[in-house]
Amino acid sequence: MIPVEVLGKRWDHPIACASGALAAHLPGMEDAVLRGAAAIFTKTITESPREGHPGPVFVDYPDEGYALNAMGLPNPGPDRMVVEIEEFRDEFDVPVYASVAADGPEGFRKLARAFSDVADGLELNVSCPHAGKGYGAELGSDPETVAEITEAAVRAFDGPVSVKLTPNVDRETLLEVAAAAIDAGAEALTAVNTLGPGLRIDLRTASPVLGAGVGGLSGPALKPIALRVVADLALEFGEEVEIIGVGGIRSGEDVVEFLLAGAKAVQVATAAREKDFGDIAMETYRILKELGYEEPEEAIGAALPEYRERLRRLGWCQ
Ligand SMILES: Cc1cc2nc3c(=O)[nH]c(=O)nc-3n(C[C@H](O)[C@H](O)[C@H](O)COP(=O)(O)O)c2cc1C
Repeated sequence: MIPVEVLGKRWDHPIACASGALAAHLPGMEDAVLRGAAAIFTKTITESPREGHPGPVFVDYPDEGYALNAMGLPNPGPDRMVVEIEEFRDEFDVPVYASVAADGPEGFRKLARAFSDVADGLELNVSCPHAGKGYGAELGSDPETVAEITEAAVRAFDGPVSVKLTPNVDRETLLEVAAAAIDAGAEALTAVNTLGPGLRIDLRTASPVLGAGVGGLSGPALKPIALRVVADLALEFGEEVEIIGVGGIRSGEDVVEFLLAGAKAVQVATAAREKDFGDIAMETYRILKELGYEEPEEAIGAALPEYRERLRRLGWCQ
């Protein structure tokens, strides 16, 4: 496998463990590496430890192609997580990026400082659709707020910062939010967090299935939305920042599709429950070879010229 350069580091291949997939604590991070992840994005860490929402927090509907989750950002807080990342580093030479969330710029600044000496980069979670009032997608749908948060984090962190975007906005707002993040110093965009929130109801109890009531939609049904967001971002900002694709990836074919749409690398969350990152990587390189690409780099953005042409016909692009 030919390695790739992402967020200032060499990754063995372009497939990382997404925030919240496995890596809430050290054993989760170890597990992700043993199962072949090229990089780790930690579970989102908040300023203080959080217990998260009451259960059930995750429900899978494989026949319908999606899962819903409303974990509520359970995490051990920055002090404990810094120690866990240090222990992880003693064991493995795999890039680790801290995912962080707060309710405004000051909180993001504190978290950025807390992880500055231990993490290879930061991912700003301004996109969780079920984290509660004042958190997540509520912040990430407003370009000015995203600019303030990104600037605060970039100033306090010595390394690359990626802003994780919500798909729950229209195309114009998406591009405004992304531009705000880039102007404020983000080196990468992660797209996308979960869609929604969505609702499922238990027929017998006539109550929402999830403890929180609603939850973010992930898994294969999210893939076409995530791909479109990645392609829109790549068309507009592909020369300026790295784009990390996430949403519904479970096979090498999925990964190649994201590369063609302009992603430099990808993350996997829902499918990591049943498939190893290393297996997806092997499939990816086999398919790239079959398609005539010598390395992932050559495939990045190959679909964009034709995508741009089709958007032009819709009047959505110049
Ligand atoms: C159980 C679960 C927990 C998640 N926790 C987080 C989180 O803490 N922070 C975050 O930014 N995204 C979180 N996500 C979102 C994923 O990182 C990812 O953006 C989304 O699930 C789409 O990818 P997928 O279809 O591969 O799951 C979580 C997703 C799931 C399924």
